[in-house]
Amino acid sequence: MKNKIEVLQDKIIKAHAGGGPVRIESQHKKGKLTARERIHFLLDENSFEEIGMLVTHRSTDFGMEREKYSGDGVVTGYGTINGRLVYVFSQDFTVFGGSLSETHAEKICKIMEMAMKNGAPLIGLNDSGGARIQEGVVSLGGYADIFYRNVQASGVIPQLSAIMGPCAGGAVYSPAITDFILMVEHTSYMFVTGPNVVKTVTHEEVSSEELGGAATHATKSGVTHFACSNELDAINHVKQLLSYMPQNCEEMPSLLPYTPADENRSTLNTLMPENANQPYDVRSVITEVTDSESFLEVHKDYAENIVVGFARLGGRSIGIVANQPAYLAGVLDNHASVKAARFVRFCDCFNIPLLVFEDVPGFLPGTDQEWNGIITNGAKLLYAFSEATVPRITVIIRKAYGGAYDVMNSKHIGADLNYAWPTAEIAVMGAKGAAEIIFKKEITSAEHPEEKWLEKEKLYSDIFANPYRAAERGFVDEVIEPAQTRTKLIKAFKMLENKVVNNPRKKHGNIPL
Ligand code: COA
Repeated sequence: MKNKIEVLQDKIIKAHAGGGPVRIESQHKKGKLTARERIHFLLDENSFEEIGMLVTHRSTDFGMEREKYSGDGVVTGYGTINGRLVYVFSQDFTVFGGSLSETHAEKICKIMEMAMKNGAPLIGLNDSGGARIQEGVVSLGGYADIFYRNVQASGVIPQLSAIMGPCAGGAVYSPAITDFILMVEHTSYMFVTGPNVVKTVTHEEVSSEELGGAATHATKSGVTHFACSNELDAINHVKQLLSYMPQNCEEMPSLLPYTPADENRSTLNTLMPENANQPYDVRSVITEVTDSESFLEVHKDYAENIVVGFARLGGRSIGIVANQPAYLAGVLDNHASVKAARFVRFCDCFNIPLLVFEDVPGFLPGTDQEWNGIITNGAKLLYAFSEATVPRITVIIRKAYGGAYDVMNSKHIGADLNYAWPTAEIAVMGAKGAAEIIFKKEITSAEHPEEKWLEKEKLYSDIFANPYRAAERGFVDEVIEPAQTRTKLIKAFKMLENKVVNNPRKKHGNIPL
């Protein structure tokens, strides 16, 4: 018996050694943790239970039968984060560069299925040289098996991908299907084709970092939602993100204890600039209204004209979408529309109520926008809000112009409550442009056209640059003093917590992709 136990212990020690001390040292020298160290920092102490530690590959080509490592380049299993069950896979770069073999893929698929069956989030820690080159098509098949399960799991359980090393070629498509991607600055990169192929095909000279590093994907492509300064920062972001989410689509996010207090926020009464064209940072509204230090911004450096993120309001987890007047005057454009649409859909999948702060002068005009599909992309946001069945509240804090008024979670597309501050301006367009169009003849034929224009601008502004026309119609439920926003919202989300909406039965909708 003792001998048999020693055999087992020996196998466990070997599995824990991964690709051996030299490769582990090389991993550390690059500023990277090993697969097991990452799991250690991610999960609650002693909570990790490994599944498939002794799996090895079945490959016999290129002498591979003589080179086997227990676990085959990926550590998989389950554990807890702040007491909540999660499933995790962590690719081990020290074993064949974390490359994906048939068995490596099978291990990942196994825990994906368990995560779906048992309704708990799946976290992938990616660090891999891609498909196991020695295995050919079976490793490609392994990728597709994972992609297929990512799609099946989408909207059922939260799926998070932290990229902590290379992620290239087909490997990128699993993270791309998951709900959130986090990348580590300088040690991770993602691209479909690397710098060498790029050089051959397009003659562009570009480094890995520039082509697909964290900063690139956080600012230019929007592929990653977070660019983290190091691996521990990424791991902490994963934990924080999860705290706003339920375990699966059948559950509600956790409600933190909340003791009612004085929720009046008088600074909000003076926050809005006198001049309606002056910018301000909408984050100051968000942080003032939501629970202290609870706001976690998503996609912070991408499409900055719209701010999205999670927060808590009276202990309740909410998703926030806010136009950002401090960037491009807060217009909606292609990137902002897609960024917000995806966020809205995530919140709706997982029962996270939506709060919108609206200050939008309209859609961005121009050939660049039109030729890149602002019609289709703007429609994505309209579609996402319209199909969302979670509690939805909009606060119009300043401009709500044109089609953007409709799109930004208006009552007409199913918002439950629509508040407006007295500073709200709800109109087809700004007063200057409106006057120019509808009083064109009068202005051009006037003795002093500029004066006439100002007079007509004031006339239009007096009629529409306020929230009262909309309130008279019931398109705005209540005009509120800004200082009372937090009080009103806490009560309103509580009132809406048992909301039930049954959309018409269908296979699935056809969002304009
Ligand atoms: N299949 C099998 N083994 C792989 C591999 C793959 N796709 N990618 C890396 N490895 C192995 C290497 O042979 C090396 O093995 P060793 O430790 O026994 O020497 C180990 O992983 C580390 O790779 P190395 O190239 O030394 O690391 P690096 O940090 O210098 O470079 C990559 C990392 C990912 C850039 C590089 O390994 C690479 O280009 N890999 C191939 C990528 C690819 O084309 N994948 C297939 C398409 S999806």
